[in-house]
Order: sequence, then structure tokens, then C-alpha cells
Amino acid sequence: MRKGDIERVLLSKGKIQARVKKVAKELDAYYAGKSPIAICILKGSVVFFSDLLRAMKTPVSMEFMKVSSYGVGTQSSGKLSVGLDILSNIEGKDVLIVEDIIDSGNTMYMLKEMLKTRNPADICIVSLLDKPARRTADIQPDFTCFKIEDEFVIGYGLDYAEDYRDLPYVGILKRSVYKN
Ligand code: IMP
Ligand code: MG
Repeated sequence: MRKGDIERVLLSKGKIQARVKKVAKELDAYYAGKSPIAICILKGSVVFFSDLLRAMKTPVSMEFMKVSSYGVGTQSSGKLSVGLDILSNIEGKDVLIVEDIIDSGNTMYMLKEMLKTRNPADICIVSLLDKPARRTADIQPDFTCFKIEDEFVIGYGLDYAEDYRDLPYVGILKRSVYKN
């Protein structure tokens, strides 16, 4: 049933695993001698977060946050809704934000601005996917696994209406699924 909802597999399980290991090495080099606070942006990043952190050799602490943006396009500036905040103090600490996908960039832009007010030493953003064609906010991931075209994708943590997060690959969802 669900298999019929997928237009095609964009990133196979093997391709994702190989790329995640490479990006983990890049992050190990970036954090040499340091140990950042890694923030998982729920829920979409949870699969990437657990694979990435286990592939990294850098010791990290784990925090979880749930954020979303709203008001974008209907107001002059969007607002950040924080459903769950981190528990630790990030002042003077290195922060690694782990995100599933950067689309318009509004969520990441506002989250980064909000975290900056807490005076961390550094904020670095790693995103599994980057959809640069749709960017409206002035933000780029510092590290990214894959740049993708403007397609709606699901799997490996990403959902459509809370479905498909558990798929081990990233697939393009058939338009007929979300046009109905
Ligand atoms: P942004 O604020 O427009 O960058 O929104 C980013 C959020 O929108 C992501 O964290 C995802 O939750 C969601 N999103 C954007 N594109 C997709 C997609 O292709 N599939 C699933 N979720 C997406
Ligand atoms: Mg998200």
C-alpha cells in the first residue's frame, strides 16, 4: 500500500549511510578537541541524528528540541514556535544543530537567532538535506549530506502527515498522495 505512494527512491539506504559517515568525519575534523552539544530537531531529524552521532568519534551531549515556524508569508516576519526546549545552558558552549531538511530556511534562521541570544561559543548547522531552490531566508547549512531538487520527500525521518518516517531510504512522494 505505502510502496505505491512512492514515485521513486531518491537516496537509497546505502547511499545515505555512506554519505553520513563522510559528513561525520568532516564534523570530527571541525570539532577536533571539542565536545559540542548536539541538538536534535524533532521529529524529522531523529533518524539522521542517531546515525550521525554514532558515526562521529567526537564526544557529544544530546539535547532535543521541537520547533516550527508559522506566520511566514502572511506577516512581515515569521514566528518561531518552540514546542520543546533544551534543558541545558549553552552559554560558552559549541552547539551543533542537527536538522532533517532546510527548505525556505525560515525555521533554521529563526532558531539560530533565538539560540544566539543564549550566547553559545559557536553554532553549527548540519542538515541531511538541502533544498536551495526554495530558500527565502538568509541561511545555509554549514554541513549538508545531499542537495536535492524541489521535490517533496519522505523517509529516513521525514514525514508527510506523520507517515513514512520509518522508511530506511529517502523517496519522492507521489503528488497524488498530497493533492487529495
Ligand atoms: P523551512 O522553515 O521551510 O526550511 O522548513 C523546514 C521544515 O519543513 C523541515 O524541518 C521539515 O519538517 C519540513 N519540510 C520541508 N520540506 C520537506 C519535504 O520535502 N519533506 C518533508 N518535510 C519537509
Ligand atoms: Mg522539521
